[in-house]
Amino acid sequence: MRVVDLIEKKRDGKELSKEEISFLLSEYLNGNMPDYQMSSFLMATYFNDMTANELLEFTMTMKNSGDTISFDDVRRFLVDKHSTGGVGDKVTIVLAPILAALGMGTTKLSGKGLGHTGGTIDKFESIKGFSFSNTRDELVSIANKTGIGLMGYSDRIVPLDKKLYSLRDVTGTVPSIPLIASSIMSKKLAIQSDVIILDVKVGDGAFMKDKEHAKELAERMIEIGKGVGKKVKVVLSNMDEPLGYSIGNANEIIESIEMLKGKGPEDLKEVVYTIASLALKAKGEIEELPDGKEKIDKVINDRSALQKLSEFISESGGDGNLINNYNLLPQSKSVLEVFSKKEGYISKIKTEEIGKAAMIIGAGRATKDDIIDHAVGIKIFKKVGDKISTGEKIAEIYYNDGKNVETSKNMILQAYTIKNDKVNKQKAILEIIE
Ligand code: URA
Repeated sequence: MRVVDLIEKKRDGKELSKEEISFLLSEYLNGNMPDYQMSSFLMATYFNDMTANELLEFTMTMKNSGDTISFDDVRRFLVDKHSTGGVGDKVTIVLAPILAALGMGTTKLSGKGLGHTGGTIDKFESIKGFSFSNTRDELVSIANKTGIGLMGYSDRIVPLDKKLYSLRDVTGTVPSIPLIASSIMSKKLAIQSDVIILDVKVGDGAFMKDKEHAKELAERMIEIGKGVGKKVKVVLSNMDEPLGYSIGNANEIIESIEMLKGKGPEDLKEVVYTIASLALKAKGEIEELPDGKEKIDKVINDRSALQKLSEFISESGGDGNLINNYNLLPQSKSVLEVFSKKEGYISKIKTEEIGKAAMIIGAGRATKDDIIDHAVGIKIFKKVGDKISTGEKIAEIYYNDGKNVETSKNMILQAYTIKNDKVNKQKAILEIIE
């Protein structure tokens, strides 16, 4: 077999066999296929797509390129919830304790933030002393005690994805649906779970900018799941405005805790309730999604979900009392209030700009090696559909280093479009695909 023949086959729109895909990927992983040949293959894939068989084989070969983690010794129904990333996305922090209180377990790898999007690892690491499990034994022990098994990504899991993604990033092939689907699903399938629930964010602040492409991605990921007999459910959720009101790290922990006290923002609640209901349905505890509400309300009202979060924080080296004492989180030195220069109704929020406005004051990373400041962030006061008057507060910027704060303020103001006519509020869940 020769790599060049397989590139030509893909270029000509013919289907590659299982053996051919496995040969191609192993040649690349072992360093026998140069980047220029893989770049050519990726571009041919970008234009010619993959068949269902190719996609499954590609994903499974990626998955098998590194370690896989089994959780046979975690005695719970295991949910792996994955988000494609957004601004203010704190769903895991709220959802995992709710699932734990409902008797399920979360086993998942979490990521760090990059660019305008945040990461669950960074949010939890704003808690003093907190560290993610480094070993599987530690993870299993915490997951058995608390029902929450979160671990940071390791280079040993799907190493091929890291290599391919770096190449895609510089060859214009990141936005290929089969390449995104295989990248995400190979990492999901490397971790044992009973159901995978994918939260595909759609809109300005998301990787998928429109619903049509997001739906196509969702369907391809479900197709991979079917190929390996794995339950995969997808929600398409709105990222045409930040999720909730807080963007940053410590401040997103606070908003998550407030949600577990029953005081969270409506859009965050809608996403969390939908995903938790999908998990309950996958487990066989409810027939229809709306039946989940009563069960979820109960673990919020009796504070058992909040208690789970506190236990998880304590088990991970932090102070679980922070659920009642936010002073245990890092605080920024200064706050800049941002006031609207116009009046009317908020018709649009350029979400990516808000994410970047938070990033430049230190809440996020422009490059992988940047150090973040967990105390800083942005709180917005207005969402799409809200009425605002001239001079009314639109946001607060929590900062330590004033260098970029004026730029951040201008970015926030420019991110908002204010119109005279009334505008409807946005729905948080755009579609559920089971
Ligand atoms: N997220 C991933 O993990 N991979 C992609 O290719 C895109 C988004």
